[in-house]
Amino acid sequence: MQIISTTQELRDRLKSEPSVAFVPTMGNLHEGHVSLVRQAREHGRCVVASIFVNPIQFGPGEDFDSYPRTLEADCAKLEGLADVVFAPAVSDLYPEPQQVFVEPPPVANELCGAFRPGHFRGVVTVVLKLLNIVQPQAAIFGMKDYQQLHVIRAMARQLNLPVEIVAGETLRAADGLALSSRNGYLSAEERIEAVRLYRNLGRVQESIVAGSKDYAALERTAVADLEAHGWRVDYVAVRAAESLLPAGADDTGLVVLAAAWLGRTRLIDNIEVCVSRRRSL
Ligand code: PAJ
Repeated sequence: MQIISTTQELRDRLKSEPSVAFVPTMGNLHEGHVSLVRQAREHGRCVVASIFVNPIQFGPGEDFDSYPRTLEADCAKLEGLADVVFAPAVSDLYPEPQQVFVEPPPVANELCGAFRPGHFRGVVTVVLKLLNIVQPQAAIFGMKDYQQLHVIRAMARQLNLPVEIVAGETLRAADGLALSSRNGYLSAEERIEAVRLYRNLGRVQESIVAGSKDYAALERTAVADLEAHGWRVDYVAVRAAESLLPAGADDTGLVVLAAAWLGRTRLIDNIEVCVSRRRSL
């Protein structure tokens, strides 16, 4: 496994590679990231993982400065799984002030985007830069960041990028908490409480499968349970999985998404729901 820190060196290394599969990350890797890198092997001869904490996707007051940077441990986890780790400096990816941005679709201003203005603009811009540098035939993104995957897919389609965007399943701890680099911010007590987010998504899912169509009421119940246990909830939302627009009564592919704060840690998660169409008599 080669560790490369400049764009030029990476371009030279990949020039003769016929098929590259790519996993972009911000590092502090856990088993969820690693599972994407394993999956990448099925999509290209050469597997590249990037580690880059992207300043332009963090808002003022967010955790850009404190985001865990653990390059050595990350590389140890990727050994034998990735062929190349690309870990550029901010000055390498942004040698001049970034004035050209990708404008994500309007849905990027909802859900997480409503609470993190400019976040998805920063994400899709850096992802396009990375795709242009690596030029993979496939790039793997986790369903854990469901809205991120959605806006990246939209960018790839609408900007005609020659890349297949592949979705990876969310890896969870034994109690159900989605693995996340930010879980490391949780105290021992908060870590035990954290699974309530996923449990609530599961309850909403069960109610929908059982036939409930009052999505607003289900959202309110989940928010109330979280708030009763000390969470500050950004949103719990039932959306159409394809469009991420508010779910209508006829939508059968749904996703329940949530973002909430536990102390100083913002956690996000989601769960898909398939509504079976019951024939009305
Ligand atoms: P990061 O949060 O490091 O996540 C990198 C990739 O790992 C993303 O595609 C994310 O969805 C996936 N991932 C995170 N937790 C996961 C889990 N528990 N199971 C499976 N996959 C998981 O997302 C980013 O970085 C950045 O926004 C990035 C796309 C790299 C752009 O800067």
